[in-house]
Amino acid sequence: MIKNEDLIKKANKEIEKNKSLVNSDYYRLKYHIMPPTGLLNDPNGFIQFKGEYHLFYQFHPFGTNHGLKYWGHYKSIDLVNWEAMPIALAPSEWYESHGCYSGSAIEDNGILTLIYTGNVKDKQGNRETYQCLAMSEDGVEFEKYKDNPVIHNQPKGYTRHFRDPKVWKKDGIWYMVIGAQTIKEEGRVLLFKSKDLKSWDMVGEVAGSNINNLGDFGFMWECPDLFELNGKDILISSPQGIKPQGDLYNNIYQSGYFVGKVDYKTGNMQHEDFVELDRGFEFYAPQTTLDDKGRRILIAWMGLPEEEDHPTTEKGWIHAMTIPRVLELKENKIIQKPVEEMENIRKNLAKYENIKINSSEIMLENISGDVLEMEAIFEVDDAYEFGVKLRCSDDEKEKTILYYDRKMQKFIFDRENSGKGYKGVRRCYIEDKKKLKLNIFLDTSSVEVFINDGQEVFTGRIYPDKQSLGIKFFAKGGSVILKELRKWDI
Ligand code: FRU
Repeated sequence: MIKNEDLIKKANKEIEKNKSLVNSDYYRLKYHIMPPTGLLNDPNGFIQFKGEYHLFYQFHPFGTNHGLKYWGHYKSIDLVNWEAMPIALAPSEWYESHGCYSGSAIEDNGILTLIYTGNVKDKQGNRETYQCLAMSEDGVEFEKYKDNPVIHNQPKGYTRHFRDPKVWKKDGIWYMVIGAQTIKEEGRVLLFKSKDLKSWDMVGEVAGSNINNLGDFGFMWECPDLFELNGKDILISSPQGIKPQGDLYNNIYQSGYFVGKVDYKTGNMQHEDFVELDRGFEFYAPQTTLDDKGRRILIAWMGLPEEEDHPTTEKGWIHAMTIPRVLELKENKIIQKPVEEMENIRKNLAKYENIKINSSEIMLENISGDVLEMEAIFEVDDAYEFGVKLRCSDDEKEKTILYYDRKMQKFIFDRENSGKGYKGVRRCYIEDKKKLKLNIFLDTSSVEVFINDGQEVFTGRIYPDKQSLGIKFFAKGGSVILKELRKWDI
């Protein structure tokens, strides 16, 4: 077995070696978390510790494929400016020989404690999984718990797809949700409890495929998270194996939530229907934390499993995180807003009011670019379709279209002509209230659009040419008023 320090040294060498190639990539994002080289996937261990936000991530330093996973680490005082920290975990022990898989963080008497899954594959390729702890006093150097693993044996009736522990404290007791699969290959979220984080007892099944009247709902549920919002319990999970249904579930795997009530004696949750958290393309394995302002903040992987064909691989890296979002519950629906700290990085305001667009397409002075935030409020007159084209080339061969179709009452994100990379169209129902507000975050290779103050969000990666910087507003079959437009560079 290679020692922890040596594994970290090896990874650091790889980061150093690839630095100039990675940094030569136009598609490196300007305000999103990315890996220094190699592959990033799930957000892990999201926590505010001693006044600073920490975000760890699944990290494969040696390639843009899902190889041996480490925990990379960033920290921030404001959720916007992130500082790269030394690698937190390397897969050095027998119980994690094939990767330090996803998990969460808690503060236990002043100690930052990570709880994660050690992934092991034996010589026959069989998977074993173990839940493990690692502790840190300063939030930088982590020491693995000497009696790891803390969960050795999976409960009967479940396979070794048993991972992604998320831990929190309630009424003096530690609780954990974990993603699991029954031996009949049905996805599950299980609830465990512990007095000391070291010895864990199963409470029961929270939710899953073919229970709680859900019907057939996937073969594995990854990355669960359970918390309260407005007195209701919210279960987030990333189920795998759900078939597309019209506009729903069009990505390879989904991430969404259930609203309901958990019975902490049995673990069971009575819940409403599953709702996708994001209506766009790349969005998976979200994780939340509660900060000292009482905000429930979510960050997700702006990528998907099994989709590793992004153009950035030529430059030695792949994937990123979404910007942080604050979650609120309104009438049993989650509303998602960018954290207000995003406003601190706004520069150079350009502003317009009351611009009428009548069956036409317009460009506005100072409204163009690739790294920016934009807020647009449309008031509809009689147009049947209206919206904005981003990242347009002069000949308009390249464009990314965000628009509203009033006949269908749907908002649409069309990246069919966005440049290189994955293509496609995503749609979501939004009631036609003759008014639409868009808050768009553009980075060199990503789009995040928050609709009507967080009612829906669409996220996606795009890879246009760096010269494609045009922004055009349009209306078809009548007019709309661009009531207010504000744009900032970031
Ligand atoms: C989700 C996931 C987790 C696992 C991790 C491995 O994307 O598959 O279930 O812990 O990634 O990197």
